[in-house]
Amino acid sequence: MTTLVAKKKPVKKGTAAKKKALKKSASKRRDGAPKSAKSKLYASLVVQLLSLLKGEHDFIANAANFSALLFNSLPNVSWAGFYFLHGEELVLGPFQGNPACVRIPMGQGVCGVAAQQCETIIVPNVHEFPGHIACDVASNSEIVVPLFDGERLLGVLDLDSPLIGRFDDQDAEGLNELATVFVAHEEGLGL
Ligand code: SME
Repeated sequence: MTTLVAKKKPVKKGTAAKKKALKKSASKRRDGAPKSAKSKLYASLVVQLLSLLKGEHDFIANAANFSALLFNSLPNVSWAGFYFLHGEELVLGPFQGNPACVRIPMGQGVCGVAAQQCETIIVPNVHEFPGHIACDVASNSEIVVPLFDGERLLGVLDLDSPLIGRFDDQDAEGLNELATVFVAHEEGLGL
């Protein structure tokens, strides 16, 4: 079974939009609901990511540190990293975890489907996802978040877990926010 999460709104290019995205990410919830432990964790990761990115604009270095932050901070995550769009296929980028398949055609696997549909995809059980690409036999659930520079698809952020049903809507929200902060920080990506 797959769960499609609401389509992420691409961040428009330009300084004002970037500042707005960063400001929104650093702000607190305004609906009055108490923050869950998970949303507090993601809020703390936004602060840590901003600190890691500060003053550094090397895209590969920043992507590598972002993946390390996720891998070492989120519980029960066995793989965290990037696939970037090169032509019609996704190519492995910086990551933490076991070695992974290098090229994924658009529309194939969870990553290729998320990239093609421009949707965050939560897969509670990867063994039930048609066409899932098994890079790690220990992986049982997965979440894939597409990355946009404005309206241009850059690639995807991919996380795997050995636990069934590890990822939920709060992870989708938190990871989308982190991805927005990451992309908004980068300028002249050259991808
Ligand atoms: N499972 C992914 C492939 C990438 S690995 O999980 C690192 C997929 O089906 O696209």
